Amino acid sequence: MESALDYWSARALLEWQAELGATEALCDDPVDRYALEQAAPKPKPGAAPAPPPKPKEVDPVEVAQKAAKGAASLPALRDAMDEFGHCDLKRGARNLVFCDGQAGARVMIIGEAPGRDEDLQGKPFVGRAGQLLDKMLEAIGLSRDENVYITNVLPWRPPQNRDPLPAEIAMLTPFLERHVALAKPEVLVLMGNISCQAVLGKRGITRLRGQWDQAWGKPVIPMFHPAYLLRQPAHKRLAWADLLELKARLGSLT
Ligand code: URA
Repeated sequence: MESALDYWSARALLEWQAELGATEALCDDPVDRYALEQAAPKPKPGAAPAPPPKPKEVDPVEVAQKAAKGAASLPALRDAMDEFGHCDLKRGARNLVFCDGQAGARVMIIGEAPGRDEDLQGKPFVGRAGQLLDKMLEAIGLSRDENVYITNVLPWRPPQNRDPLPAEIAMLTPFLERHVALAKPEVLVLMGNISCQAVLGKRGITRLRGQWDQAWGKPVIPMFHPAYLLRQPAHKRLAWADLLELKARLGSLT
C-alpha cells in the first residue's frame, strides 16, 4: 500500500519524533501503556503486603519424644539428653546429672532436680538431702552401691534451686520415661511433688504419699522428699511408714 504521506511530510514527522526523544521504532502498532496499567489488578487499599512464610515452630516435647525413643541404651540416652538444646536450664548448669547407683536395680528413685552439690559433682542426691536418703534406704536394707538406681526429673540445676517450670517438666519427661524403660526397675519411688507431677500427672504429696499407684507399667510409691524431711523432721515418722511399705512390697514381689 502506498503511503499517504509525501517524502517531506514523512521526514518532518520523523524529525519531530526524534526531537521528542524517540530513538528507535519497536513495533508496528502503538501500545497504550496507560490502558495496560489500568487493566492490571490493583492491591486493595490498606491491604498489607503478604508476610513471608513463617518458619515451622518447633515443639520441644515432640523433639524430646523423638530423641528419647531413638536411644537404645542408657549411655545413648545420656548422650541424647546432652544434645537436647531446647531447655534453657542447660545453659546455666555445670554438669548434666544423669544417674547414680545400679542400673537394673529393683528400686528406682526419682527425685526433683540437682542442687548445688549435685551440679558440681554430676551425680544425683550427693548433698544433705542425699545423705538423708542414704540413711533412709539403709534402714530397710537398700543402698545405691548395691540395689538402688537414682535419677531426677530434671538433669540440670534450676537457677537458685527454683521450682521447675511446667514447660521444663513437660519437655524432660519423655527422657525420664525412656530412662525408666531402659533401667527396668520393678518399682518406682517418687520423691516429692515434682516427680509425682512428671510421672503421675498429679501433685499433693501429703495425700499421695504411701499410696501405691501405677505408671509406665510399674508400681509407684510417692514419698516425702528428703529435703522436705530436713525442714520438717516431725514427718520422718510418716516417711518411715512409707519405707516399711516399700520393703514389704519388695518382699512380696520376690
Ligand atoms: N534433690 C533432688 O530432688 N535431687 C537431687 O539430686 C538432689 C536434691
